[in-house]
Order: sequence, then C-alpha cells, then structure tokens
Amino acid sequence: MTVKTDEKEILRQKGFAEKVKNIIGEGKKYLLITLGCQQNESDSEKLHGMLSEMGYTETELIDEADLILYNTCAVRENAEKKLFGRIGALKPYKEKNPDLIIGVCGCMTQQKGMDERFRRYYKYVDMVFGTYSLYALPEILYKVIEDRAQIRDIRDIDGEVTEGIPIKRQSNVKAYLSVMYGCNNFCSYCVVPYVRGRERSREYKDVLDEAKSIASSGIKEIMLLGQNVNSYNGGLSFAELVAKVSEIDGIERIRFMSSHPKDISSELIDVMAERKNVCNQLHLPVQSGSNRILKIMNRRYTVEKYMGIIDEVKRKIPDVTLTTDIIVGFPGETNEDFYKTMELLKAVRYDSIFSFIYSKRKGTPAAVMEDCLTEEEKHINFDKMLKLQNDISLEKNKAMIGSVQSVLVEGESKTDKLRQCGRSEGGKLVHFASDKDLTGEIVKVKITDVNTWTLSGDMI
Ligand code: 5AD
Ligand code: SF4
Repeated sequence: MTVKTDEKEILRQKGFAEKVKNIIGEGKKYLLITLGCQQNESDSEKLHGMLSEMGYTETELIDEADLILYNTCAVRENAEKKLFGRIGALKPYKEKNPDLIIGVCGCMTQQKGMDERFRRYYKYVDMVFGTYSLYALPEILYKVIEDRAQIRDIRDIDGEVTEGIPIKRQSNVKAYLSVMYGCNNFCSYCVVPYVRGRERSREYKDVLDEAKSIASSGIKEIMLLGQNVNSYNGGLSFAELVAKVSEIDGIERIRFMSSHPKDISSELIDVMAERKNVCNQLHLPVQSGSNRILKIMNRRYTVEKYMGIIDEVKRKIPDVTLTTDIIVGFPGETNEDFYKTMELLKAVRYDSIFSFIYSKRKGTPAAVMEDCLTEEEKHINFDKMLKLQNDISLEKNKAMIGSVQSVLVEGESKTDKLRQCGRSEGGKLVHFASDKDLTGEIVKVKITDVNTWTLSGDMI
C-alpha cells in the first residue's frame, strides 16, 4: 500500500516557501546542476518548482548565482569524483561572497560517511540533504538564510511517497513522470537500493492526474520513470497503468524506463504492441551475457530467459527499437564471460547500448569480490564491445534508409540553424531541413542518410 507524506507536512513546507519568498525579495538567482539519470532529472524538476515558488529565478552562470545546488549521482565513482572537484572549485566564490548559498542533495549524500565528509572537509557547503528530504527544501533553505545555520538533513526513513510538490518541467515537448521510487533488487554492484530505499509506488490516480495535467499543457510525450518501473504496484499493474495513460487525450507518445527483465510481463509487451501511442521502444538492461556473472550479480534471470523475452518482443513488435545497459569488468569476469556478452550483442542486435566499466561502490556485495582481469584488459574489452556495437548500430540505421519516420521535433539543430531535430518513435535522433520552427510538432521524415548515432532526411 502507498504511504503518503502527511498533507499537513506539505502545507508546512508551503509556509516555509512563503517565508523564504518574503525574506529574499526580488531578483535572487539560482543555479541547479543535475548529474546522473532521468530519475534525478525528474527530482530536479521538483527542485526547480520549489525554488521558483520561493521567488528565485534560474541562471546558468556561477557568477550571477545567489544559490548553487548540485543534485548528485552515486552510481559510479566517476560522478562522485567530479562532484567533489566542482564543489572544491566553488570555495573561492564563497570566500568572495559569504552570502552565496551552496547546497548538495540527492543520491550521493545518502551514502555512508558522506555526511561526515562534508562536515569535515567542505564546511562552506551550507546545506546537504538526501533523497528523502527533497520536499523539505523550503524549510532547509529558510533555516540556512534565517538562522545562518549549516543544515544537514539526511534521513533514514523509508517507504513514503510525497505528492503535491510543485514541478517546473524543463521541456515543453516531453515530460518525465515518476511512477515509483527506490529499488528492492540489490544487484550486487549497485548502490541504488542503499541511497534511494525500498520500492514504493505512487497511487495510480495521482499518476493519471499528473499525466492529464501534462496533456492539458500541450506536451505530447510522457516518459514513465522508476528505477524498476515495471514492478509498479500502485493499485494497477504496470501494463494496466501504461494502458490507462495511453487513453488520455493529447498523449501521443509514451515511453518508460528502466525495466527489469525479471518483471517484464507478456501483458506489457501486448500493450506496447496494441496501443499506437505506446512507443515501440524498449530499454531492457541485461548487464552481462554470461549466466555465471548474472548469478553473481544477483540479477535473477538467465541469458535463456532474457532471450525468450527479446524473442517475444521482436515477434509481437517487429519494428521495435531495443537498447540495454552492460557492465564490463565485473569482479570475477573472465574473457570467456566477456565473449558471451559479445555473443549476446550479436544475437539481440540492439540499436544502441549504454556500456560501463565496473565501478566499485562501497557497501555493495561486489565491492569485496576479487577481480580476474586487469584494468587494462577491461578497457581493451570495453573498446572491442563498442566497436562491435557501433557496427551493429550503423547497420540497423542503414536499414532505415528510405523509411518514413514520425518525428517529435525538439527544436533547432545545435550545429545548423536551418535544420530541426527531434526523436523518432524508437527514440533515435533525426535531423531534417526546415527554416520553420516546428518544436513540439510531430512530422513525417523520409530517411535519406544515417550514421552510427543519428538519422537525417527530408520532411514530407
Ligand atoms: N559500476 C558500473 N556500472 C554500474 N551500473 C550500476 N552500478 C554500476 C557500477 N557499480 C550501471 C548498470 C545500470 C546503469 C544505470 O548503471 O548498467 O543498469
Ligand atoms: Fe540497481 Fe539492480 Fe535496482 Fe537497477 S535493478 S537500480 S541495477 S539494484
């Protein structure tokens, strides 16, 4: 059952927002930097919403900002290193302007020992708050401003869903809609269950209300989000939820991510196949093509089970676009295991993949497992995999030459003002010539030229 944060608490936060607004007056600016995945992007839309409600306006310039907030990621060590580098670089700004407010929030702050690390070495950071305290930004900020206090709000509570936080969406073409939070899977390499807590789903009525308000704002595409989106259980199954969202007038495209292979149902595949506005695109992280490694990763499926799902998806949705996540160099992975992953890539023929070299995360079971390969060997394998996948991606894109794709236009091409770009139903980037701004429209484009990552063509 969904447990919601008490409405009184939400009203209390609105009260703090009002107080902050009165204290700061007009003209205060914030810079919000979001690292990591779509779930973080979605959380940041709430941070944008709350900051706007408090009277702040957004800037992209550090020099102009009165408040700088980092929404952090903890999935790989790289993200963590980058964050500390960036926070370190802010110290001179704080020395020059003691009124500058610096904040760090999100996944990284929930990791063991992080609170202490900020307390000791980053004393000039005014507020550090975790994933469960996101909604309390108004109260935290009020205390920072009014009491000139350094606030640390990293909670260990779990199991709540907070409704009613203002959202300021960052795109008027496509919208993120979080349907569930947290993860129960405890894959042995992954820090997410520790920093985002147990799975909890929003009530389906709340999800549908938000979807309707997205539709009425004129946004045509919705991405349903969750760390493990297909284990949604907010009163409907995930397949039922997708079907209900697809019935809302004005929603022309629905995507969802990330799905766990162990929770994919035939009903969901049927909904994708049958509903015109549910995109023929599936991101299905496989992580490895070796059963031995999948077991140590605690993924709870075999290559055979995974391939069974892929076969069903391809049979029911012949033009499906498939993507996945792969980890190279998981502890204990041998070259033999790695070649099994290469075989899987050849068998599935994904349109593209997101591949990562394994990164040790403190506190996860894999962190104490022994490595078989050296870092150099892992990098060599990683490059081999990219080469194989790039060839497959290019071949799959070449097969699309001559086809007509429906493209939801996102705006002007970054490199050429006379070209527009958008995404095909399969999620591929498409460029085409147009001197008219077609942002937000769905147009038909005949594909004439492709490369590994993008398609281009003529509007018809
Ligand atoms: N090291 C490398 N990649 C990881 N991922 C998650 N944890 C780690 C880790 N410790 C990858 C997985 C996941 C994606 C979001 O990030 O492939 O699907
Ligand atoms: Fe991490 Fe596994 Fe949960 Fe994905 S399913 S968030 S990889 S623990």
